[in-house]
Amino acid sequence: MTDADAIRVLAIACSPREAGNTDALLDAAIAGATEAGARVEHFVLREMSISPCAACGACASGSGRCIVEDDMRRLYEPLVRAGRIIIASPVYFMCLPAQAKAMVDRCQPLWVRRNRGEDVSEARHPRAALYLGVGGGDLPHLFDASRTVLNSWYWTLQVFERRELSFAGVDARGAIAQHPSALADAREAGRSLAAWGRE
Ligand SMILES: Cc1cc2nc3c(=O)[nH]c(=O)nc-3n(C[C@H](O)[C@H](O)[C@H](O)COP(=O)(O)O)c2cc1C
Repeated sequence: MTDADAIRVLAIACSPREAGNTDALLDAAIAGATEAGARVEHFVLREMSISPCAACGACASGSGRCIVEDDMRRLYEPLVRAGRIIIASPVYFMCLPAQAKAMVDRCQPLWVRRNRGEDVSEARHPRAALYLGVGGGDLPHLFDASRTVLNSWYWTLQVFERRELSFAGVDARGAIAQHPSALADAREAGRSLAAWGRE
């Protein structure tokens, strides 16, 4: 298989905390995807400057593109080209942290195009995504709101296959490493996502 044939995986790290539980899960999933021959592009939202959507309406009138000049510009092309997406995020106040929600909201230009009936995905294959979630507590419905946001995002991005691996009760930085199977599970989830439809 040449590099041009390799499945493209977009990996998005959404935790503001460096070297925390989300990063560990995502690193394991990336290792699994790489083992499966994928080419991974890794973005770390805390290292990027992404403004919230200002609802200026520019994307809805005219080109369907966002006019805001910030680091979101680096993400639009991978978002439409990737065959696989891995989004890894902690739960903040029962939902995604603000950095992740800002990124999702800035996909409004893609929603505009999709809502007009245009194809947003430029991937060569049906797209699949994996949500890696972690929360410090274990309240019921801990991942529901994040999942709801992501399902809306997946509709916009034309993600066909939707997977999730989430862990409750993991709070301290690095505590995920004490979980009996989380990192191995994430590695396998990354491998399996990259191999989906190709095995
Ligand atoms: C601002 C903030 C809000 C949080 N809200 C929740 C919450 O609603 N439910 C929960 O179970 N954990 C909550 N947590 C705990 C994190 O989800 C938990 O510490 C997680 O392991 C952090 O992952 P990280 O190490 O990748 O940053 C919150 C943490 C912070 C800093």
